[in-house]
Order: sequence, then structure tokens, then C-alpha cells
Amino acid sequence: MNVIDAVKSRISTRAFLDRPVNEDQIRELLEIARWAPSGGNLQPWRVHVVMGAGRDRLVATVKKAIAENPLADESELAIYPPKLGEPWRTRRFEIGEAMYALLGIPREDKAARIQQLMRNYEFFGAPAGLFFSLDRQFDKGQWAHLGMFMQTIALAAAEMGLATCMQEAWAARAKTVSAFLGLEESEQLYCGMALGYADPDANVNTLRSERANLSDFATFVTS
Ligand SMILES: Cc1cc2nc3c(=O)[nH]c(=O)nc-3n(C[C@H](O)[C@H](O)[C@H](O)COP(=O)(O)O)c2cc1C
Repeated sequence: MNVIDAVKSRISTRAFLDRPVNEDQIRELLEIARWAPSGGNLQPWRVHVVMGAGRDRLVATVKKAIAENPLADESELAIYPPKLGEPWRTRRFEIGEAMYALLGIPREDKAARIQQLMRNYEFFGAPAGLFFSLDRQFDKGQWAHLGMFMQTIALAAAEMGLATCMQEAWAARAKTVSAFLGLEESEQLYCGMALGYADPDANVNTLRSERANLSDFATFVTS
């Protein structure tokens, strides 16, 4: 697979097979991703892998925390701006609706929608999960570098036949996850990533998101 194929074939997978990924594969993935670029070569990223019994323990811990306190942990990170403007608001709405349509969950069925949201907290069935964190001293620049690291993982995973889903949903449970992982106070959890083998029979995995045209986001100064 070449890079362009990997970019075009990577999707957010939301249903995984009950098929393990071994530690060597994940180590290989991270060995590749460490070559991602970062300003000043700071390499600000940190990654925490949960798999096997560790993954199951984390899922159980978070499930218990949600049952005890259905409200999200107090979050340092707003996933979206509180008043998301256009065209972003519509894009967000449309991808959500497209996903729920594939799952056969209507707008009124709030319980089923919440249940689907909760699937995030079991990595959509994936056998492994990655969590990404940064030292709190870092600002927007280093957050962008972390994104490059994450995308490099997703692309390398695609080449290795593995599927991923980046999951900001975990930010809503950052306190519980940080405590579970034993993160220092100085470390801020950003995002999770489900990692495993895509379930080829799951309808939700047929979701293909759209992208804006070049003219909507690119400008060229040519003279
Ligand atoms: C940083 C980041 C966090 C995301 N968090 C979630 C999430 O918590 N749950 C989820 O189902 N999808 C999540 N997504 C997936 C996006 O919805 C998805 O990338 C977008 O709709 C484009 O679709 P595609 O990834 O299939 O190309 C996230 C994506 C990114 C890049």
C-alpha cells in the first residue's frame, strides 16, 4: 500500500472483530510513528497502550465511573467550541446523522443514541486502545504535532491491515482514564484511539464521510 492509498482508505472504524492485536504489532506501529515530524523536533507526544486484561480493566473501570456519575468528568478541553459556526456545525450534524441512519437509530431514540455513544468507552469492541497525552506546558503548536503523530499511526495501521478510530470521546472521562493510567499531574490526556481489525459485516463501517472541495479551503497566490 502506498501513502496515498493509506490516506484514502483510512476511515474511522466503529465496529471491530474480537480478534487480538499482539504487542509486537503495536510496538512496530509506534516505531514507525515516532518518525512523525514536530516543530523543533520536540516530539511532545506520549502514548499509553491498553490491551488484553489491561484493556478490559480500563473498560470496566470507566463503565463503573459512568454508572456512578453519568455526567462527564469536568473537562479541561472543550472538544468543540460552544457556539460552533457554519459550515462546521452542519458538517458535524450531517456525519452524525449519516452514522445513526446506517445504524437504524432515529433522532427521537435518544436512549439508542446514547448507547451508541457509550460504545466509544469500549473502543467499539477493539482489542486495543491507545491514549495520547501532552505535558501541560505545551500550547497549540505542540497539540498540532500530536495530531501528526496520531495520523501517522492511523496510516501505518492501515498499511498493516489494522483499523482505527480516533476518539475524543475519552476526553469526557479524562480524570478516570488519567488515574487508571497513572498519569502525572503535569500530563494532560487528549484523545483515545481504538485499534484492531474492522468487522467487515458491520453496517456502521460502510460509513464514508465527505470532504469539502479544494475551493472551499485552499487559496493560491500565483502572481
Ligand atoms: C481527533 C479526532 C477525534 C475523534 N473522536 C471521535 C470519537 O470520539 N468518536 C467517534 O466515533 N469518532 C471520532 N472521530 C472520528 C471523526 O468523526 C471522523 O474522523 C470524521 O467524521 C471523518 O471520517 P473518517 O475518519 O471516516 O474519514 C474523531 C476524529 C478525530 C480526528
